[in-house]
Amino acid sequence: MIRTLLFLTALLAAAPAAAQGWTPDVIYVPTPHEVVDDMLRLVDVKKGDILYDLGSGDGRIPIAAAKKYGIRATGIDIDPERIAEANQKARGAGVSKLVEFRQEDLFKANFRDATVVTLYLLPDLNLRLRPRLWAELKPGTRVVSHQFDMGDWQPDKKQGEIEARIEWLPFQLNPEMPAEGVVRADYRRAKFGSVEKGRALDARVAQEGAGEGIEFAFDRMQRTPNTVAAHQLIDLAQTQGKGDAVVDALFRTYFEEAGDIGDVAILQGIAERLAVKGWPEEKDMDKVREKEDRVRDLGINGVPTFIFDRKSGLSGAYPPDQLAQAIREAATK
Ligand SMILES: C[S@@+](CC[C@H](N)C(=O)[O-])C[C@H]1O[C@@H](n2cnc3c(N)ncnc32)[C@H](O)[C@@H]1O
Repeated sequence: MIRTLLFLTALLAAAPAAAQGWTPDVIYVPTPHEVVDDMLRLVDVKKGDILYDLGSGDGRIPIAAAKKYGIRATGIDIDPERIAEANQKARGAGVSKLVEFRQEDLFKANFRDATVVTLYLLPDLNLRLRPRLWAELKPGTRVVSHQFDMGDWQPDKKQGEIEARIEWLPFQLNPEMPAEGVVRADYRRAKFGSVEKGRALDARVAQEGAGEGIEFAFDRMQRTPNTVAAHQLIDLAQTQGKGDAVVDALFRTYFEEAGDIGDVAILQGIAERLAVKGWPEEKDMDKVREKEDRVRDLGINGVPTFIFDRKSGLSGAYPPDQLAQAIREAATK
């Protein structure tokens, strides 16, 4: 039943187009804007390039190329509605002079003067187009395809779902902290001038946390711990693929359960619960100290700090999409 319905819908959708003498080879699905940026970066678009988007939809790729890099760009689409939409968006973006949208069949259109070609079609359409790309494009022209490959034509560069590996690095905000930690109220008074000021700051963080589903237990926290031993536990756990789980347990214990994560018994409990082997006898204090020295040498002085592929970094709390973008950028550098 569902199949019949879908089939009928497809027929209905195609009918008016066919009556006007054109039928799309693939339906319109826009490339997300952040992927458009990645595509343009991947082919290293620069001044003087001439870009063609074959099957250009609402024109977002040519428009982005013109707007960001100031280059001339053409969109070819078989659907006149898309062409009208693209022209309207180009006017809105103030790039009408640089972009052109043509209602044509991409398999017949002339794109010989391109230096960059962008595609978001389908695998079989890419293969159908391939002989023309090889025969007609000038040597050195870059072709980038969103999502679909080109059969056995291997890409020079590829950017897909990036497999990220997280490495937790040690960092103490207060390297002078006594090994047994300090009474939290004393610590906060010394740091912020009064217990009340410290409480007001806690309340702000607690409010933010509530929006993220974190129940901060600031009012129950007795001690501000020394975290050196916790860093050693993370380091050992990381060698067993359990770094994330231990960090998560430490954060929960401290922030939500008000546990003292400098306390030997609490760390032992986490190690046992997560089956971290060799704790505490195999902890490597020198290695952790060296890692922390390296982090300080990088000029890092706050948490959280994120370092991406040793190429770039962000310090502070950022929304996930901004972190994802920073990872993408590091991956294409
Ligand atoms: C998946 S969308 C991609 C749109 C745009 N390139 C993007 O990435 O956002 C494919 C587009 O190709 C167009 N199209 C399908 N067959 C075509 C053909 N034979 N010639 C030109 N355009 C075609 C569709 O109308 C649609 O807008």
